[in-house]
Amino acid sequence: MSFVEVNDVAVSYENFPVLQHVNLEVAEGAFVTIVGSSGCGKSTFLRLLLSQEEPTAGSIRIAGVHLPPRPTPDRGIVFQRYSVFPHLTVTDNLILPLEFEHSAVFGRLFGSARQKLREQVETILQRIGLTDARHRYPAQLSGGMQQRLAIAQALLKRPRLLLLDEPFGALDPGIRRDMHELLLGLWQETGMTVFMVTHDIAEAFKLGTRLIVFDKMRHDPGNSSAAGATITYDLPLRRPTTFVDEFARTSISAAATLDASVSILSKDALTTPGVEQ
Ligand SMILES: Nc1ncnc2c1ncn2[C@@H]1O[C@H](COP(=O)(O)OP(=O)(O)O)[C@@H](O)[C@H]1O
Ligand SMILES: [Mg+2]
Repeated sequence: MSFVEVNDVAVSYENFPVLQHVNLEVAEGAFVTIVGSSGCGKSTFLRLLLSQEEPTAGSIRIAGVHLPPRPTPDRGIVFQRYSVFPHLTVTDNLILPLEFEHSAVFGRLFGSARQKLREQVETILQRIGLTDARHRYPAQLSGGMQQRLAIAQALLKRPRLLLLDEPFGALDPGIRRDMHELLLGLWQETGMTVFMVTHDIAEAFKLGTRLIVFDKMRHDPGNSSAAGATITYDLPLRRPTTFVDEFARTSISAAATLDASVSILSKDALTTPGVEQ
């Protein structure tokens, strides 16, 4: 049984087909990069995996569980969306979302649990290079720093499935490379499964263990109706293992545990601040 199973999925908006006949099986731990022309349905596909959108036809299973029509926390999979909160400092942006989550159960975090959380936040601040900016607010950070903060927010939860929608598009090349290394290191340490949409084909080849391409289906002869996009290429990728060796040595946590959760970080995370569920 594959970790993610997409079975003949279609999505239409008011009879306008966006996706059709999408079939995919992905093993746990894969790093799937997704490319395709603008508007062909890549973000829609990620929203399906996040259960934010329901397929018009077909079905999706993650870890053997059929996705519910709406994100719910009671099916063994927790769906989350990340946003940087403009009124919180860097540190609080990392700590408070985790505290709120625990507070639903325990009232509040205290004692050793709180201490452990602070240590994890400390480690990831160093890792993303924001230790010196810890007391700043998002508006006082550069775009690259904000993006690193959003990525740290998503990664701190150690989701079992991480969905990334063009997360590095706005970053300078140098910072982009740093974020590639951070992401690859955490991916390798945790064994999480990643789906990442990118418009940069070089990035797709560099990061992925598998590259899938969405494209509009060719019209069937005799069928004049509009066609949605589907997966037209599905390439297994190999890359030098040495690329991530350095990060395997500096592991954040020797025994990483993964939440049964799906997290998404989209390029909109920074432009639509606030609570998003
Ligand atoms: N909620 C919606 N209602 C109607 N049309 C939508 C909606 N969301 C996306 N679309 C349309 O679906 C198509 C695919 O969009 P999207 O998944 O965002 O593409 P991509 O991420 O590949 O650029 C586009 O034509 C877009 O206009
Ligand atoms: Mg998109």
